[in-house]
Amino acid sequence: MKIIVANWKMNPTTLREANDLFHFYVDQSLRHLNINIVACPPVLYLEELAKLKKEGGQVALGAQDFFWEETGAFTGQVSLSMLKPFGIEYALLGHSEKRYIAGETDEMINKKLLVALKQNIKPILLIGEKDKGDYRQDILIDQLSRDLAGVEAGQISNLLVCYEPVWAISSNSGGVSDTPENALEAVVSIREILAKMFSQEIAQDIPILYGGSVNSQNVASFLGHPEIAGAVVGSASLQAEEFGKLLEIGASL
Ligand code: PGA
Repeated sequence: MKIIVANWKMNPTTLREANDLFHFYVDQSLRHLNINIVACPPVLYLEELAKLKKEGGQVALGAQDFFWEETGAFTGQVSLSMLKPFGIEYALLGHSEKRYIAGETDEMINKKLLVALKQNIKPILLIGEKDKGDYRQDILIDQLSRDLAGVEAGQISNLLVCYEPVWAISSNSGGVSDTPENALEAVVSIREILAKMFSQEIAQDIPILYGGSVNSQNVASFLGHPEIAGAVVGSASLQAEEFGKLLEIGASL
């Protein structure tokens, strides 16, 4: 079963639009039972969307971010324990817009990831090179070893990894994705690195996704590969019609 993660980023601008979009997701999830849809809305909308989720449908909720401490003097932050009552099951970690706009370091990502695993939330760890043409295995090794430092083999069954080259994100590339061949090479490479860090047996069960300008036109070329477990989708996830097409194609694979 493929997984499609919708990263809404700082969109839409009103709760009403968020509700409408989520309603659409719920409808779609009932049509395509063989796709795992995860919606990651802005934190402010989680409470309302969690109520809609209770009305039916198969859409899981994910956090776009959280802070690693539970409570205390951390102005502007929200802890995972505060988000969990809204039924979140996943959390995006290491997104490049957090790494490069908000200055999040691998050490910070690692702290959050350890908290997520401890609290039984599935972290979706995003990694990938910043510049086009700079794909190198050592960048992936560096990110994976720092972001997963201290993670024990027994904890890892909840982990998902996404290869998302920063340059291929639609807001950076004008909508041009990586090629399916390169994405596949990176996904295979990530699995090899995870096998060395943990074990072959463990690595083979970790879902590895692709992200970066995924849309209805190209989703089949990525998800058609059994090695690629799903996709993280940004801008296409905000357009109901386009996202509906993408899900339909994903479900038909
Ligand atoms: P995109 O965004 O699909 O708009 O490229 C993906 C992401 O940033 O996670």
